[in-house]
Amino acid sequence: TLRFHRPVCICPFTMCLQCLPILSAVYNTYLKYHFVSAFWKEVADDFFWKKPATGPMLQYNFDVTIGNIYVKCMEGAKTNMCYNVLDRLVRERNLGEKVAYYWEGNSPDHHMAITYSQLLSQVCRCANVLKKMDRVSIYLPMIPELVYTMLACARIGAVHSIVVIHTVFIIYGVYRGEKLINLKQIADEALEKCREIASSSVTKCLIVKHHALRTKSGAACNKLQTPWDSECDVWWEEVMRDSPEECEPEWLDAEDPLFILYTSGSTGKPKGVLHTVAGYLLYTSLTFKYVFDHHHDDVYWCTADIGWITGHSYITYGPLANGATSVLFEGIPVHPHVGRFWEIIEKYKVTKFYTAPTAIRLLMKYGREPLQKYDLSSLRILGTVGEPINPEAWQWYHEAVGKGRCPVVDTFWQTETVKHSYLTLNPHLIFQTFPFFGVEPTILNEHGEELEGEAEGYLVFRRPWPGIMRTVYRNHERFENSYFKKFPGFYVTGDGCRRDKDGYYWITGRTDDMLNVSGHLMSTAEVEAALTEHPAVAEAAVVSRPHKVKGECLYCFVSLKDSREFTHTLVEELKRLVREKIGPIATPDFIQNAPALPKTRSGKIMRRILRQIARNEKDLGDLSTLADPKVVEELFSQRCEAA
Ligand code: PRX
Repeated sequence: TLRFHRPVCICPFTMCLQCLPILSAVYNTYLKYHFVSAFWKEVADDFFWKKPATGPMLQYNFDVTIGNIYVKCMEGAKTNMCYNVLDRLVRERNLGEKVAYYWEGNSPDHHMAITYSQLLSQVCRCANVLKKMDRVSIYLPMIPELVYTMLACARIGAVHSIVVIHTVFIIYGVYRGEKLINLKQIADEALEKCREIASSSVTKCLIVKHHALRTKSGAACNKLQTPWDSECDVWWEEVMRDSPEECEPEWLDAEDPLFILYTSGSTGKPKGVLHTVAGYLLYTSLTFKYVFDHHHDDVYWCTADIGWITGHSYITYGPLANGATSVLFEGIPVHPHVGRFWEIIEKYKVTKFYTAPTAIRLLMKYGREPLQKYDLSSLRILGTVGEPINPEAWQWYHEAVGKGRCPVVDTFWQTETVKHSYLTLNPHLIFQTFPFFGVEPTILNEHGEELEGEAEGYLVFRRPWPGIMRTVYRNHERFENSYFKKFPGFYVTGDGCRRDKDGYYWITGRTDDMLNVSGHLMSTAEVEAALTEHPAVAEAAVVSRPHKVKGECLYCFVSLKDSREFTHTLVEELKRLVREKIGPIATPDFIQNAPALPKTRSGKIMRRILRQIARNEKDLGDLSTLADPKVVEELFSQRCEAA
């Protein structure tokens, strides 16, 4: 099997003489494995199949001009995701006593270890509860119950995250840093809206009481004073207590859906990205194993939220499929102090650490001192995901956190691609170098022509791999239009890419109207739609502006209706509106009054100019298509300097 060598040379040069033989050995093995079709069969042999596949490992059509786009993996096979990530390990691999998760709460006083057998029994209990319910939606923070419910869904073949819900899991209240958040109330309000718009509504809410609220200090729980609907609301603890510990898994078809995860679409309406059982199992487990060079005694920690694809793939399914021990962290990096991450690494002797550039930039602000109090010598590999990592952040991660001896794997991927499409095998390069097994990238120009050698253009993939998304939930046409129509024969990532003279790939950022704030994608259209819902706003245009910690932040231009005044209160109202409609991550940093917006003569907003105004770039280039050049001057004179 392929194993990345370690310890990796710590020389500061790329490809030094000591590194070169190691890297070339890895690279040769890598090339050998990259497209061997028997390879996927070999990967599948590690897992349990109730019924073997009757079709080939992978079938597909990527060309809209030939017919419908489809991808199928191991057609005819029957299996169960939950069985493979729990029962198989407990029964066949004797890993029952191994810790699956070290749960670390928001407060350092709250923590627990959960073994694979304990996890299996909790999941089975939960699955038995769920069997009595209909459709399921989950609204839980980073607590063990979240993993139990996801896996319970996978066990009984329920797709997690759906539109019309009948049963919902929610938490009573939760601390985020110092702040107590009344999630039950938020969920109640959302459910009320569901009842208004959907004919079939939620009939049961299973309410988890957070660990922190079960203890003495949980007296604050009473502060929440949340209404209780005795017909609908049920305490999780009560139903779980009476539920049996055995639950036969449902044997599903390889191509049955596993989950749906919503991601922003460039037209503003979120897309329900659908993933299926077998392909997702093979690909998350394999990427986890190789990207993090997983070993039995590792303690792995991914700081992402499970509600994000990174959490689905690299906190829940990927690590469990490998029998890994992970840290499940509920808190935030700066509570109760700014060294919390480093404290946790020391406490659990974390060997593999995976986080986002935005978290690195946040912690960089506090300098190296908070790190010096803790022993980080257990660390072997550092990972990054979510957005391009800037050289300064990479340097700090590599030197201050990894002490210059841990490779940094920069993983580029998308909710749609499910897991790492690219990774950095070379620890000294700060960009995505090689595609993962089965992934064949290429770069196209605007006319869809493939570019050879040193080039920059659209990043596309020529063929699928087992874990690529299958469709947009209930909208296959949107799936085809979004990813396959622009360049027939290719999956279009929406990202720009540069290939340098050595053949390495650099991701340069989005090529559509998407913004990447703290590693979270959102569309400008989505934010504009939220802003224009305010009765005072006639028109809105949103662009990105670089931000020291978040990478990018939102800079919004709003044109008000006649007679409406641009005031501080209005700005606050608009921020709140966007937060409510889209989420806290989308809260605009800047809102500028725009008596008029720069438009072409045909009425199209010239976002390029707005972006330059937001960034205070005075050299505006060709303005000949602009209908009224005076607008630009006025906007420049009123631009926001500080948030
Ligand atoms: O633009 C790329 C950026 O994030 C997008 C995918 O976002 P999302 O579906 O929310 O998935 C995030 C989890 C992977 C990509 O199209 N992106 C993600 N990782 C990187 C990145 N850009 C540069 N480097 C990365 N490592």
